[in-house]
Amino acid sequence: MADSQDFRDNRDQIIVPLDAPTLEEAIALVDQIPAVRFWKVGLELFVSTGATILAELKARQKRIFLDLKFHDIPNTMAGACRAAGRYGVDLLTVHATAGKEALVAANVAAQEGAAAAGNPPPKVIAVTVLTSISPRALAFELKMPLELPDFALQMALLAQDSGLSGVVCSPQEAAHLRQVCGDRFLLVCPGVRPIWASANDQRRVMTPAEALRAGASYLVIGRPITVAPDPAEAFARICQEVAEVTG
Ligand code: C5P
Repeated sequence: MADSQDFRDNRDQIIVPLDAPTLEEAIALVDQIPAVRFWKVGLELFVSTGATILAELKARQKRIFLDLKFHDIPNTMAGACRAAGRYGVDLLTVHATAGKEALVAANVAAQEGAAAAGNPPPKVIAVTVLTSISPRALAFELKMPLELPDFALQMALLAQDSGLSGVVCSPQEAAHLRQVCGDRFLLVCPGVRPIWASANDQRRVMTPAEALRAGASYLVIGRPITVAPDPAEAFARICQEVAEVTG
């Protein structure tokens, strides 16, 4: 599927969120599952540790999904993305609702920051609508006249039109987005659960195999791995399931 040239093996397609509150706990988790090659650093950990966690991951030759969901005016978005590009992150999130000018500026700046530091170009991807926003909240709080799925699709198209590499989406949306946005558009999907794992608070889940068949490029899978009795074994099991789909 899209971006397949980036996959050295199936492990590169599974991104594990480093949802830990402190640097020590995050590093302990990274070192507990050495086979994981791609980690997601979100707002809590980044605000808590600053760029130290990124340096620790780079020192271990890990790929990094910096999920800070930037949303600001174009100049500020560009500055933040340029700095992220300098860190050598692989994936970076922004909100599509920041608008086209900001998205274009963010993407250009991320590439400039990476080039200036001698890093490979990062892929900037967009959050379309936060999954915590219900159809009701979209209509009555945000006063959006479009239905939620249509609004999410329009935001994906805006991201694509602005030159971004892809979007974060539910696996339920993946098949339609893959059809509309084409093969090279990255679809990064949380909400993935192997059948042997608990759904936790995720409502509409797909298995890794189903999500990949639907068109997902990357799977973000957290608790089925991180809180498993044996996280390394759980990760290996998921890699095996993915290999059965992708060959
Ligand atoms: O543990 P779990 O597999 O549910 O973790 C999924 C990760 O993806 C978490 O870091 C969560 O914050 C993130 N995420 C999500 N759903 C979204 C966007 C991000 O679960 N719509």
